[in-house]
Amino acid sequence: MLITIRKYLGRKMKKNILVIGGGGYVGSHQVRMLCDAEYSVSVIDNLNTGFESAIDERAHFEYGDIRDFDFVCKVLKKYSVDVVIHFAALSLVGESTKRPLEYYNNNVYGMEILLRAMEICDVTKIVFSSSAAVYGEHLLMPITEEYETNPVSPYGQTKLIMEKMILDQSNAANVNYISLRYFNVAGASIDGKLGECHNPETHLIPLVIKAAMNNTAINIYGDNYDTKDGTCVRDYIHVLDLCKAHELAIEYLLENNKNHILNLGYGNGFSVSEIVEEVEKYSKKKIKKVISEKRHGDPAKLVASNKRIQNVLGWIPEYADMHIIVKTAYDFYEKYPSGYKEEF
Ligand code: UFG
Repeated sequence: MLITIRKYLGRKMKKNILVIGGGGYVGSHQVRMLCDAEYSVSVIDNLNTGFESAIDERAHFEYGDIRDFDFVCKVLKKYSVDVVIHFAALSLVGESTKRPLEYYNNNVYGMEILLRAMEICDVTKIVFSSSAAVYGEHLLMPITEEYETNPVSPYGQTKLIMEKMILDQSNAANVNYISLRYFNVAGASIDGKLGECHNPETHLIPLVIKAAMNNTAINIYGDNYDTKDGTCVRDYIHVLDLCKAHELAIEYLLENNKNHILNLGYGNGFSVSEIVEEVEKYSKKKIKKVISEKRHGDPAKLVASNKRIQNVLGWIPEYADMHIIVKTAYDFYEKYPSGYKEEF
């Protein structure tokens, strides 16, 4: 009863959430979910990898870059921001091994500017998109938050540094945070209007679906890993369950002055070969496979323990089913085969 009244009052007060990177894959789903929940939502995006057409019309869009201190301050003040969600990072493991300095500039320097702007503007709450890439190689699964961090890619390094920057700033200034260590985000909105749209696409599930649709081959990066079938194992989480965790994190931060680092995954590992089989089953098409070189920076297995997030936030996944992940992603690509640009 008390929780219901608090929630009602909270909604009435229309808390102001700034979503940085709200035009991207995860950000666009998040913006829509928060608008549905009647938060007042503002968005910063430099549209390098995001799409304006994917940003919900109910949100206030501000075009600009997180590394622009004056711009970020202006937006924080204009919308009297209560909580920041920070999605705006370069996030490709393979790319980060080839262009590490861009990752340090965009991710680490961007975080410095954001934290400085938050301090100046007296914004004290942040939900941060961290990553399972901070863990590196471990033999024992599932991975708990106590596991040693030892990133094997520059991308993972930047996420770990960003986590530490928030922690240090939290000790030095009045900042509360929840850092969510994502495992592999996948799937699309149930109505098929929002989905994953990268150019070039490098993620496994979109590439396998495109291979099925276009009758092309999928490259399997390595088949002699120490896993159930020799291909890499990942913990794929539906984007809507991932966004729900952020909404719960916002509610938590608005009511508590505590900080947490939480894994965000289902705790189920699927190998690359199993993903190909799932897509074959759904599409009823045989997919051509080419075994290729291992990709630099790929750990063999990443599977989450999600006990802590269930305890702290009361997060209960709704879409923990590979069939739903594949179906929603497949529907999105059938509806919008050339992505957002022409189709929205
Ligand atoms: N893979 C292939 N062929 C492809 C593409 C991927 O075999 O054409 C394999 C990769 O080697 C990897 C798995 O499929 O083993 C998943 O690869 P993705 O590129 O889809 O995802 P990553 O695991 O590299 O990275 C993703 C996010 C990161 C995040 C990480 C956490 O992009 O931001 O999950 O596990 F850190």
